[in-house]
Amino acid sequence: MITLLPLPVEAKEFTVREVTGADCAALDALYADEEVRKYVGTSSAFTRRPGESPDAAFQRGHVDTMRPAAIAAPTGSVLGALSLRRYDGNGAEPGDFEITIALRKDVRGRRIGSDVRSAVLDALRGGPAVRRVIARVAPGHKPSLHLVQALHFTKIGEQPNLHSGQLDGVFALDIN
Ligand SMILES: CC(C)(COP(=O)(O)OP(=O)(O)OC[C@H]1O[C@@H](n2cnc3c(N)ncnc32)[C@H](O)[C@@H]1OP(=O)(O)O)[C@@H](O)C(=O)NCCC(=O)NCCS
Repeated sequence: MITLLPLPVEAKEFTVREVTGADCAALDALYADEEVRKYVGTSSAFTRRPGESPDAAFQRGHVDTMRPAAIAAPTGSVLGALSLRRYDGNGAEPGDFEITIALRKDVRGRRIGSDVRSAVLDALRGGPAVRRVIARVAPGHKPSLHLVQALHFTKIGEQPNLHSGQLDGVFALDIN
C-alpha cells in the first residue's frame, strides 16, 4: 500500500491518527449517523476494520480503502474519521485522491472540519503520491461548499453519488 499521509497529523484541537481496536464503537456510532450515511455512505473507506489489510477489506466489498484515519480530541475521544482514496470518477487524472471527512454530530460547525482539511493538505504537500486532492460536494451541502471555496479548490465536474442518488460537484486542488 502506498503511504499517502504520514500519521499522526497533529493540531491544537485534534490529532489525525491510525484507527485502533478501541475506536470500533465510536466509529460504528459515527457511521450510523443519518448525515454520514447520506453524504459519506457505509461502504466507504471508514468501514475498514482496525488491523484489517486492504486486501481483506476488498474481499468484503470495501474496495475504496486507502488510508482510513481517526480524528481524535486531545483527551483521546474520537471526533470523526478521515479517508483518502484514489479518485477515478469524471475528470480524474493520475495522482488524484479524494478526501472525505465525517465528524460526530455534536462537534460539527466548530471549524474542526476546516482545520482538519487544512492540516491534512499541508501534510500531503511535497509527498510523492498525491498530485491533486479531490473533494466531492453534495448539492446544497453548505459546510462542504464553504470548505472547498475557502481552500481555493476549483470545480472540475460532476459525479453521481451512489449513496444519495444526487449529482455531486467535484472540486480539485493542485498540491504538488
Ligand atoms: C462536512 C463537515 C466535515 C464540515 O466540518 P465542520 O467542522 O462541521 O465545518 P466547519 O465548522 O469547519 O465549517 C466550514 C464552513 O461551513 C460553514 N458552515 C458550517 N456549518 C454550516 C451550516 N449548517 N450551514 C451553512 N454553513 C455552515 C462554516 O461557517 C464554514 O464556512 P467559512 O469557512 O466560510 O467560515 C462536517 O459537518 C460533517 O462531518 N458532516 C457530516 C458528514 C459529511 O457530510 N461529510 C461531508 C463529506 S466530505
